[in-house]
Amino acid sequence: MKILAIETSCDETSVSVLQDKKILSNIISSQLFHSEWGGVVPEIASREHIKNISIVCEEAIKTSGISKDEIELVCATSTPGLIGALLVGYSFAKSFALAKNIPFVPVNHIQAHLYSVFIENDFRFPFLGLIVSGGHTLLIQVDDFFKHKILGTTLDDAAGEAFDKGAKILGLGYPGGPIIDKLAKRGNKNFHSFPISKTESEFDFSFSGVKTSLLNYWNKQNKNSEQESVIKDVAASYQETISEMLFRKTIKAAEKFDIKTIGISGGVSANSRLREKFNSLSKSGYNILFPSLQYTIDNAAMIGFTGYLKFMNSENKNYFSTESFKEKPLARIEIKNF
Ligand code: KG4
Ligand code: ZN
Repeated sequence: MKILAIETSCDETSVSVLQDKKILSNIISSQLFHSEWGGVVPEIASREHIKNISIVCEEAIKTSGISKDEIELVCATSTPGLIGALLVGYSFAKSFALAKNIPFVPVNHIQAHLYSVFIENDFRFPFLGLIVSGGHTLLIQVDDFFKHKILGTTLDDAAGEAFDKGAKILGLGYPGGPIIDKLAKRGNKNFHSFPISKTESEFDFSFSGVKTSLLNYWNKQNKNSEQESVIKDVAASYQETISEMLFRKTIKAAEKFDIKTIGISGGVSANSRLREKFNSLSKSGYNILFPSLQYTIDNAAMIGFTGYLKFMNSENKNYFSTESFKEKPLARIEIKNF
């Protein structure tokens, strides 16, 4: 089955073409200019998606080596995300499906991150999914395809947000995760000990404490010359604390529920220290799965991959047909024919 997949939930316009589970192309256009504002500006993101979507789509089809007439299934991110941004990709994808009279599968962005660990690895169930992105931090037990139980989430900031806000405090720019990661490679992770947050619920996360602690610590370092010399060490210590919090809770859940496969996904799963920590578990009998870097940031390949799984695992495939598009909205709107 040849699939066209579209992702526009935040600041990446991405289109991918797949043949079943195989990725034929995965084009990602990142709106890097948001760094000027220190974060994503939703209105501007939507307008950029409108400008980019058909160019990225053409590029993805061209790179895949198949023709657009061969596409048999269309998938797009439906939620969660910035509503204006989502609408661009979703409407584009649905129109494509409608014009060609082929099925359309709406895909949950978080589920797509969750399953992205299997793009290059064999499926294994049960597994524990740790999803760490700019907007979400979730620990999920997955017993089978689309049989999930959320074990924990963040009570305040998402892990990626903690990296981004931390980088802002240190005056490092946006997005903060990759900058801190790079700087930390030259720093001493034991330089300063930031607090590990405790939460009442066993598997929830909290990052606001470590962020405030960084802010207070950094404000006390009042001489610029001192700040310059320790910034890489502070970045390394801050990164160590965030990754340790993610690592500890995940291991605790793996031990409690006796699950030996752990899949870590989302933008923060690109972090080298987090990878190092989890990969060290391989020698203790764990299967540690990470997506390769192009599938960690927001990308349409994971949307197509998950949409295909959803379609193949669905008992009623008519649910996705263009015929079904018509039934639902018509039931809710009044049509006047003058
Ligand atoms: O999954 P993603 O591309 O978008 C969302 O769905 O949010 O994740 C973006 C987040 C940003 O907060 C960014 O700082 C973080 O992922 N990130 C990283 C790294 N690369 C991206 N965080 C830590 N280390 C990295 N190497
Ligand atoms: Zn994401």
